[in-house]
Amino acid sequence: MTGNRSFLDLADAGGNALAAMIHDAIDRKAARRALPKGQADYDAPLAGHVLAMIFEKNSTRTRVSFDIAVRQLGGTALILDSGTSQLGRGETIADTARVLGRMVDAIMVRTDDHSKVEEMARHAGVPVINGLTDQSHPCQIVADLLTIVEHGKPLPGLQLAWLGDCNNVMNSLVEAAGLMKFDMRIGTPAGYVPDAQYVDEARRAGSTITVTQDALEAARGADVVVTDTWVSMGQEHAAAKIAELTPYQVNADLMSAASRDAVFLHCLPAHVGEEVSEDVFEGPQSVVFDEAENRIHAQKSILLWSLGKLGTESG
Ligand code: CP
Ligand code: NVA
Repeated sequence: MTGNRSFLDLADAGGNALAAMIHDAIDRKAARRALPKGQADYDAPLAGHVLAMIFEKNSTRTRVSFDIAVRQLGGTALILDSGTSQLGRGETIADTARVLGRMVDAIMVRTDDHSKVEEMARHAGVPVINGLTDQSHPCQIVADLLTIVEHGKPLPGLQLAWLGDCNNVMNSLVEAAGLMKFDMRIGTPAGYVPDAQYVDEARRAGSTITVTQDALEAARGADVVVTDTWVSMGQEHAAAKIAELTPYQVNADLMSAASRDAVFLHCLPAHVGEEVSEDVFEGPQSVVFDEAENRIHAQKSILLWSLGKLGTESG
């Protein structure tokens, strides 16, 4: 088992390792239930390890969950932002990667262009983890899969509905569909298209990925309903886009088309009243705060996998 595996997309791990990550997260979460949040897990498998986190975009959940995750694994984290590091003054990604790779054990990067995390991974010599790019958000989806499984829904054969914008979170969900053998119906306006690279791969793996402009058709019978902001970081809050997406709001009517015991997921931050109505966001089917908490447990599995220390890994 190698200890230098970057996690730029879910396919870097593959379906078996993702399943192992979910199981490990469930076990670790249960094992430390009585511990204060800042105390290390009993086995502290990353004692002595340091994670560097680079943020070129805002973050609350990813930043705090990685920090707490690495502490719970017995290690420490440090944060660089482009405003105060030499990255902001033009030092290259390659040089930054080579320096950090000499100083820390793993690097998490949140940035805009996906090629930047690829460049970092090529030069770092230590695992690089994608903490969100304009293209994908794989760490979020490990937490989402964990949340779905915890709520009693096995992934193979699951029917998942995505409503709204076609964005980074959706791309990683499509990727997950192929890897974990579930189907996905995407309700999105005309002219909005999922990233073909992820859709083609999921379809090749045998998943049914349907794109429809009919929001109710997308939601019909779904086990899980997911949405995200209509305006991702770096995008303009354009009135025309909001108007196009308004029919795709996840509200009570839309949830009533889904399965009776469907759960609602949102990676957060939410814009209640836009992509989701308040009654759904605050309602009994919403598991968004379980999902947010699960970012910690998911990050722990991702870190362990990247460093070759995921105990239950089967592939
Ligand atoms: N869901 C998510 O990645 O949240 P942050 O932007 O707060 O990290
Ligand atoms: N699609 C959102 C996700 C935020 C966690 C964005 O990129 O801003």
